[in-house]
Amino acid sequence: MCGIIGYTGKEEVKEILLDALESLEYRGYDSAGIAVSDQEAEEIQIFKCAGRVSDLKRVCADEEIHAKCGIGHTRWATHGGVSNVNAHPHQVGRVTVVHNGIIENYKELAAEYRLNGQLKSETDSEVAAAVLNALYNGNPRETIYQAVSRLQGTFALVILFEDFPGRIFSIRNVSPIVATQSEEGCMLASDVTALCRFTNRYFVVPEYCLLELSEDGIALSDMQGKAVEPEYMEVNWGLNSSDKGGYPFYMEKEIMEQPEAIQNTIQNRIVDGMPDFTEDGVPDSLFVNCERVCVVACGTAMHAGLIAQSLVKSILNMHMDVELASEYMYTDPVVDEKTLVIAISQSGETIDTLEALKYARKQGARSLAIINVKGSSIARASEYVLYTDAGPEMAVASTKAYTTQLALIYLIVAKMAQVRGVWKEKQVKEYIAELKRVPSAIEKVLERRKEIHLIAKNILEAKDLFMIGRGLDYSLLLEGSLKLKEVSYIHSEAYASGELKHGPIALITNHTPVVAVVTQTRIMQKEISNIKEVQSRGARVILFIKGELLQSLRQEIEIFTLPNLRDEFMVIPASVALQLMAYYVSSDKGFDVDKPRNLAKVVTVE
Ligand code: M6R
Repeated sequence: MCGIIGYTGKEEVKEILLDALESLEYRGYDSAGIAVSDQEAEEIQIFKCAGRVSDLKRVCADEEIHAKCGIGHTRWATHGGVSNVNAHPHQVGRVTVVHNGIIENYKELAAEYRLNGQLKSETDSEVAAAVLNALYNGNPRETIYQAVSRLQGTFALVILFEDFPGRIFSIRNVSPIVATQSEEGCMLASDVTALCRFTNRYFVVPEYCLLELSEDGIALSDMQGKAVEPEYMEVNWGLNSSDKGGYPFYMEKEIMEQPEAIQNTIQNRIVDGMPDFTEDGVPDSLFVNCERVCVVACGTAMHAGLIAQSLVKSILNMHMDVELASEYMYTDPVVDEKTLVIAISQSGETIDTLEALKYARKQGARSLAIINVKGSSIARASEYVLYTDAGPEMAVASTKAYTTQLALIYLIVAKMAQVRGVWKEKQVKEYIAELKRVPSAIEKVLERRKEIHLIAKNILEAKDLFMIGRGLDYSLLLEGSLKLKEVSYIHSEAYASGELKHGPIALITNHTPVVAVVTQTRIMQKEISNIKEVQSRGARVILFIKGELLQSLRQEIEIFTLPNLRDEFMVIPASVALQLMAYYVSSDKGFDVDKPRNLAKVVTVE
């Protein structure tokens, strides 16, 4: 949470910072600010305000800012409300700071260093700036190490010292910072998205290493002052792949990109029709030697885990836990060296998932991560990683990350069935052949998106909505329901349809739209009965159904027929249809689809 940017180099910094902040805005959009170090004026100027980067642009528009070094921040509020004064950067004495993370002992530090008279904001971040200023002895390195040894919690700190113009210092614990150097200058950021338009090479700043950016280049050193060689990696996202590409919102663009994203994710992992993780360095033994499998994840990624759970149970006849990462270590998990923990995360930075993974590894578990962002914290904390090749996902609502996670899950399940001797080669090949048909099935849904738009128009006024289904349909509806509520603010709940009569059916009236998904042949009749139960109580039903199951239904329901795939794979086209429905409801209501209220894309606080 919170986006950070820093630049020093040959170019005027204002536009660089503002553009980069815009591309980082999905990390938080409560307030934004920049601090620039103007060599001629020998002072650090700060411009900040509550609101979006677009508001900050207005604040800066009339200002003559001529500087080639600066830092910026876009905030997701934790300590202190959304206000101008709580916006970053924070300046105390000769120190100016932007911060991502939480300083847990900020109250104790404020008391110990008698800072209260100096603090203008309610933020923990300003306390960090004030501690740095209190300890400042003219030597940034000594000061920073002394200060961070007192900080408890997580932090990515980016610091300007007034008497070191043109230089940016940074240090981090848990919260990420990446950096790069190009012909134009040196840059750091919370994540690689902000660097993409300059270069596709970057490195992750190691924890508690001091990063210094200046016109001489990048210097990285450990706590003893010993130089550390940055470990550069490459991101294979196109330099402009974080643009909206002509769509009004990233969410629409990202929904439309799913056939290609899935294709990219699976193509190099299928060799001779069989799943193959050789290029990823993931050994087959990982899947043979485990007795227990457990997914740790949050939100949409956790919903992908639920699909994995159903597949593992039905295909491998094996038990699998899916744990909310935020609950994992507080609920006495059963985990040992025979457990394979699979951490799923788009960003690779979700702190709950990271902590759950670390906990499991401490208990001896083996680990595999399914991640979209290369080199992210969870990827580095896991023994093995499979990257989804979804490209940057900018909309807060996750779409292509989810379906590419599912694509990898199908491959993992096939690999497990193969190496554990559950399936013969022929069965694995048939299953993989069906997986390869998924991108074109998605295309078919996308081609008919106008029909889904019409369906969406019918639920614009809904206050409450239910989604019902059984088995895999129920699992995918949990995700469909999350999607709708986060972008449209309609209260939506997914229920296993057989569970309705045990209570929730009391809420069904003729004002309650019910979205039903029917894709699973063996439980179809029961699902239809449940739909009739809600219809008889006045509910207007919108049905997404696998085409070949349609014939036995009366036509008075609003129906969208989904393309036919083997039942296990219907999750993906059905999910895409629900993503489109959520998207159209939100955009028709005039909401900022990509930046729903109160949310942030990357959740780095517990
Ligand atoms: O980056 P991650 O996949 O770890 O993020 C997990 C959740 O925060 C995320 O999926 C969230 O639920 C999305 N907003 C859902 O659209």
